[in-house]
Amino acid sequence: MTTAGGEDLEALRRETEAALAAAADLRAWDAVRVATLGRSGRLTALLKGLGQVPAERRKERGAALNRLKAELEAAIEARRLALEQAELEARLKAERLDVTLPPRPTAPGTAAEGGIHPISRTVEELTAIFGAMGFAVVEGPDIESDWHNFGALNIPEHHPARQDHDTFYLPPGPDGRRPVLRTHTSPVQIRTMLTQAPPIRAIVPGRTYRADHDATHSPMFHQVEGLVIDRAITLGHLKGCLIDFLRAFFGIRDLPVRFRASYFPFTEPSMEVDISWNRRTGELGKGEDWLEILGSGMVHPKVLANCGLDPRVWQGFAFGMGIERIAMLKQGMTDLRPFFESDVRWLRHYRADPLSPPSLAEGV
Ligand code: PHE
Repeated sequence: MTTAGGEDLEALRRETEAALAAAADLRAWDAVRVATLGRSGRLTALLKGLGQVPAERRKERGAALNRLKAELEAAIEARRLALEQAELEARLKAERLDVTLPPRPTAPGTAAEGGIHPISRTVEELTAIFGAMGFAVVEGPDIESDWHNFGALNIPEHHPARQDHDTFYLPPGPDGRRPVLRTHTSPVQIRTMLTQAPPIRAIVPGRTYRADHDATHSPMFHQVEGLVIDRAITLGHLKGCLIDFLRAFFGIRDLPVRFRASYFPFTEPSMEVDISWNRRTGELGKGEDWLEILGSGMVHPKVLANCGLDPRVWQGFAFGMGIERIAMLKQGMTDLRPFFESDVRWLRHYRADPLSPPSLAEGV
């Protein structure tokens, strides 16, 4: 069937192209490929027949066959890509998922119904309150350098505060110093002042670590740090900010709040903050007793200077509070350990509804 002008090659090209165009899916495409390039395919047969072509035409015929082979291979590959693309698009269309649809309601208390862990919920609540006051959320690493966790915060090498913290140390790094699991969120004060130009209003919710374990202490727990740096910030701002926060968080409009002189190496003056409660009933806001809630103070001039801020220009306040502690008080819990035991019964009881995030309008 070999003709001098190569019409058979032209026919094969045309027919193969038509068959490729007609192949509607990868199965049909593969049949065309096999019928053309396969072991008993049409092109393969023509290549095999080259030996029978008279010697004077063999060279020309061989070159024509090779050209056709390259052309057909390219056409077959192009069709494969087009079919695969079409198949993917069809799948994406068919399997389309509207992630903005609210979930179907499930029966309350069933396993399918997810919930927000009370720690996450508490972080959401305090973020909503501080967010409304203009604070931004900042984060930092759990593994800290000694300098960020202690040194820059004016806690020198042999300061007793280091022992107070029951620090978890990691093996020494290249500088010979041992990194730590941060013992508080205060190192993020340093990181924030080093990377952001004041004015600064930041809160830092996050994990913290101390080697301590009993009903009210866990080796891993959570704190939220607060940092405000601006010109002419005073103790009055600190007090107003924290009183507003505590009243909003606990939902008690006239919650009595007490500021008590204290000591932290990185604030001066320093104050512990207490709220009133009734020791006997556990009720907040009423009663003769005071409950310590958080530590705070005016950022120490040395800490400002360590971060390259001129203490004569910039002042500010900082505070740090335990998230489990305020969550427990708000929920009336007495034991901190269940937060991290993943007991489904406990989680089901204390979880929050993921579909109603805290809002200030409703009272967090
Ligand atoms: N970092 C302190 C602690 O963990 C709390 C604190 C933060 C006190 C900021 C003052 C200012 O106890």
